Amino acid sequence: MSVRARGASPVAMIHTYGCQQNVADSEKIKGQLEQMGFSFTDAAEEADLILFNTCAIREHAEDRVFGNIGALKNIKRRHPSLLVALCGCMMEQPHVAERIQKSFPFVNLVFGTHAIHRLPGLLYDTLVNGKRVFDHQPEDESKIVEGVPVRRDGTVKAWVTIMYGCNNFCSYCVVPYVRGRERSREPEAILKEFEGLVRAGYKDITLLGQNVNSYGKSLANPVSFAELLHRLDQVPGDYRIRFMTSHPKDATKELFDVMAQGKHISHHLHLPCQSGNDRVLKEMNRHYDRERYLSLIRYAKKQMPDLSITSDIIVGFPGETYEEFQDTISLIREVGFTSLFTFIFSPRKGTRAEKMEDPVPAQEKSQWFQELCAAQEQVAAERCASMVGRTERVLVEERNAKTGLLSGRTGGNIIVDFPGPDSAVGTFAQVKITQARNWILKGELAQQFAEASV
Ligand code: SAH
Ligand code: SF4
Ligand code: F3S
Repeated sequence: MSVRARGASPVAMIHTYGCQQNVADSEKIKGQLEQMGFSFTDAAEEADLILFNTCAIREHAEDRVFGNIGALKNIKRRHPSLLVALCGCMMEQPHVAERIQKSFPFVNLVFGTHAIHRLPGLLYDTLVNGKRVFDHQPEDESKIVEGVPVRRDGTVKAWVTIMYGCNNFCSYCVVPYVRGRERSREPEAILKEFEGLVRAGYKDITLLGQNVNSYGKSLANPVSFAELLHRLDQVPGDYRIRFMTSHPKDATKELFDVMAQGKHISHHLHLPCQSGNDRVLKEMNRHYDRERYLSLIRYAKKQMPDLSITSDIIVGFPGETYEEFQDTISLIREVGFTSLFTFIFSPRKGTRAEKMEDPVPAQEKSQWFQELCAAQEQVAAERCASMVGRTERVLVEERNAKTGLLSGRTGGNIIVDFPGPDSAVGTFAQVKITQARNWILKGELAQQFAEASV
């Protein structure tokens, strides 16, 4: 097989939308393409294959993808041999695949999240038959394919998917429909990949799943997420472990104990609350209430006083009133989040919330959204200010071209800028925090190393 390369060997441009799960999937796509002889470019004009790994989480995300697919038409006109492939969460939705089939005739290949390991065969079919391929092959939902080659984007940070899919069916969310049911990798396979990363010098390893707290429940020999984390933490080396996402309904005290006692586990907890109001949480099908959420936070903070907590919030869920929204504002003040990912509700086809009455006009939701952002800015600024004077272990990521300072992240995932040598990039440094400007910290390399968390 050969892709009709314009140069000596075929070149691919991969564009990834959406969450870290998609980023990790794209690394598998690149790993397979690399084995097939591809090299990679960021320039669409140079590419023999352009592949978009898409996200369906909100309407805006889908619109962006459709806009960018449309823009490929002109490139394809100039380079008729260009192959255009689309994959990822959007492509698991039949109405999207249909629209591509009808309205975007220049798209050669479409496949979903379940078919990533079959990319070489799909590409082969597209090339040999010269026909458009729309992969609809039903997959065994319980199947996990190990051993797919991975081409990692970075040399310091790495992702390890520990489980796939989601069983929770939060009423607003499309993920369970596009990613299928929950299935966990065997702990031995995860450990092997993890050890390989530590050996290769990766310093910041994030364990990925839509709800890592329900990891391992369906394995033949069930293992809890806390147990898995504890096992990984025993791997010797100089690195830190993070994980996301934790669902509050399945978070356990055992998990926070393991975090507190761990040698390598970041004191960072991404625990999406979505709302601070009990009625809204119930309508969202989240299976916890405000008090359960706060009690988890209280326990976690007691075990780890330096814990950095981040969250996701949806504003303007169907039927939410301004008073109910105020419960979210009071919750963020009470918890003191380091940072938030905030979203305005977006109706998703096939979900329960799509059919709910949604009387609040978009403009009003947008005002609530601004109010939430302003409240969070204040909370984050206070939190950052409280860090001045502390010494933090910072993973140095790069030299900031604008400021000339080194830039890195604390265990709590807060950015710190400080002067220092290039040789520090990719290593851990002890940095004394000297200044907080809004939510960015400034510091200096510490001479006397104080006790600091991972
Ligand atoms: N599995 C993770 C979330 C993955 S999606 C969890 O349960 O926490 C990331 C975030 O996108 C969600 O936490 C939610 O805040 C937001 N989101 C999901 N569906 C949405 C929708 N239909 N409209 C607006 N925001 C949404
Ligand atoms: Fe979506 Fe809920 Fe699953 Fe998260 S837990 S992916 S929000 S359904
Ligand atoms: Fe988007 Fe799929 Fe992730 S819908 S947020 S890329 S799981």
